[in-house]
Amino acid sequence: MRRLRASAFARDLVRENRLSPADFIFPVFVLEGSGQREAVPSMPGVERLSVDLLVEQAREVAALGIPALALFPVVPAQRKSLDAAEAWNPDGLVQRAVKTLKDALPELGIITDVALDPYTTHGQDGIIDDTGYVLNDVTSETLVKQALSHAVAGADVVAPSDMMDGRIGAIRQRLETEGHLNTLILAYAAKYASSYYGPFRDAVGSSGNIKGGNKFSYQMDPGNSDEALHECALDLAEGADMIMVKPGMPYLDIARRVKQELKVPTFAYQVSGEYAMHMAAFERGWLAQEPVMLESLLAFKRAGCDGILTYFAVAAARALQ
Ligand code: PBG
Repeated sequence: MRRLRASAFARDLVRENRLSPADFIFPVFVLEGSGQREAVPSMPGVERLSVDLLVEQAREVAALGIPALALFPVVPAQRKSLDAAEAWNPDGLVQRAVKTLKDALPELGIITDVALDPYTTHGQDGIIDDTGYVLNDVTSETLVKQALSHAVAGADVVAPSDMMDGRIGAIRQRLETEGHLNTLILAYAAKYASSYYGPFRDAVGSSGNIKGGNKFSYQMDPGNSDEALHECALDLAEGADMIMVKPGMPYLDIARRVKQELKVPTFAYQVSGEYAMHMAAFERGWLAQEPVMLESLLAFKRAGCDGILTYFAVAAARALQ
């Protein structure tokens, strides 16, 4: 075995998986206002940006060869409500950010998150009843309005991350009847009720207030694997173009099974907690930043992912130039 490892040229020739900037989707946090820039304490190196500054960052993202951005809004408390009406405001933060980015950089793919958690006062991803239970069909109707408003604003891909049943079919049908025939749907089909999302909830300001304290009644149980394939099969049958597995590194077995059994475009999300634990070790000098970052991302490719949503996208694309 060692003959093929003895020289760099031979290692290059036989390498089975490689990383390229084209594998990455870069998640960004959008703020109201202009000239606004805020650090996220639990995610060193990640900043929330107002739309004008986001456009500057997007130029670098595009120049590095990263195909797409995923937008996550930081919604001011006074715009949150029980019915999450701000989610489908045609002049809302996400809708304005999409328009501005598509005008400035038409070639850069723009992915929007379809879920109500940034817009509800209680931080759950849907509309709740008196007991705090997230209502499926009422929420799904709202998600349809939200997704349509993103498509109207010019989003290339809508990405439902809410885990309601039946919402992919409802969104696809509405997009079709409204003439958005080529809007892609990236379904967070296998999204787990993970404790790795903590820093993200800090970043968007939903952590303090998640009513009930968890999302166990809609996000998947971390003990389950077959169920992920069931979820993916349903979302594909309802009209999803691509599948997202989330979180990433602790769930690469799921990404592997999805790709192997369903043979569809499969993505995974290296989530905020995965980013935070890497950065904590890098900052302490316990792990070497660049090689560990790249190794962590290569693992997604080896598992079978077609792409990776990662807060390391820009740093990794720079390292790969
Ligand atoms: C919810 C949503 C979550 C993330 C993105 N959208 C998780 C959650 O709060 O349940 C987490 C992403 C990350 O941790 O990086 N719609």
